[in-house]
Amino acid sequence: MNLPAELFPHSLDWFLHIALPVLGAIAVFFMAIAIRRERRQAASNAERSRELERLSSELIRSNRMKSEFLANLSHELRTPLNAIVGFIDLLREGVYGELTPRQSVPVERIEASANHLRILVDQVLDLAKIAAGKLDVQPETIMLRPFLLDVTTEMESLASEKGLAISLTLGAALPTVRADPTHLRQILINLIGNACKYTDSGVIAIRAAVSDEPDSPRSRQSTAKRWLCIAVTDTGPGIPLVDQQRIFEEFEQIDAGPRTHSERRGTGLGLPISRRLADAMGGDVTLESEPGKGATFTLWLPLNGSD
Ligand SMILES: Nc1ncnc2c1ncn2[C@@H]1O[C@H](COP(=O)(O)OP(=O)(O)O)[C@@H](O)[C@H]1O
Ligand SMILES: [Mg+2]
Repeated sequence: MNLPAELFPHSLDWFLHIALPVLGAIAVFFMAIAIRRERRQAASNAERSRELERLSSELIRSNRMKSEFLANLSHELRTPLNAIVGFIDLLREGVYGELTPRQSVPVERIEASANHLRILVDQVLDLAKIAAGKLDVQPETIMLRPFLLDVTTEMESLASEKGLAISLTLGAALPTVRADPTHLRQILINLIGNACKYTDSGVIAIRAAVSDEPDSPRSRQSTAKRWLCIAVTDTGPGIPLVDQQRIFEEFEQIDAGPRTHSERRGTGLGLPISRRLADAMGGDVTLESEPGKGATFTLWLPLNGSD
């Protein structure tokens, strides 16, 4: 197609003086809108993140207040409780005169309830301390053989009261471990205590060995190459899969037992405390069980190169 040559200077003029400024103005207009929208978005994002920050610090603060309140409350409850337990002891020893058989029964009930309450208060205090980050962790080098023998001996009377046998198997060349002995003992006593409490007949087997094949969710995430695992296996009723997570939550029990039977009732705090204590030492507590086939609770502790 042939266009007349004089059209070109004219269209160029038109383009330069009319179309270009109009296009420029439109572009500037849209850019201004985009910038405004961007600014508004940035302002609302900043506002939202300030709000989130405020909410999260409020949450942390109220959580800390809750833990402090629980810690103080448990501490305050301990003093009168110790007095109650002390006076029950005196009553039972006959310091205020021999108890008649009729009086002995309620006094025994008071004693069982007071002991239950004392354990509950101690455990709530432990949990509150862990939650408030005030758990005192004092790692020491622990020789496992004498340590585990000692804990097992301590639990033997509880097992034999129920006619249960306890066996301890220690792997060859058990290393020393750096851990807080009080916490380690508390975890093992909880696990062995549960094994005794929930098993009616058979054996409680405790096995300690070193593993380089981590088998707990927590240990798989960790960089530690070697793990000390202490497994407590019982021949009790076992734990259904649906309950295996929740029993590690506070106050969760499969069968809380009759209210009057304090010993059987438990508190539902032993396992959550055990797992958190293990966590504070970089470890974990795991469970393998099938109903009717007993349960194995395993404590995992990371071993560093020199252990
Ligand atoms: N070895 C076990 N065999 C069967 N059930 C168990 C065993 N250990 C724990 N459980 C179940 O897990 C629940 C929670 O245990 P725990 O936190 O120690 O609380 P508690 O023993 O005070 O009830 C127990 O109430 C019981 O139902
Ligand atoms: Mg328990």
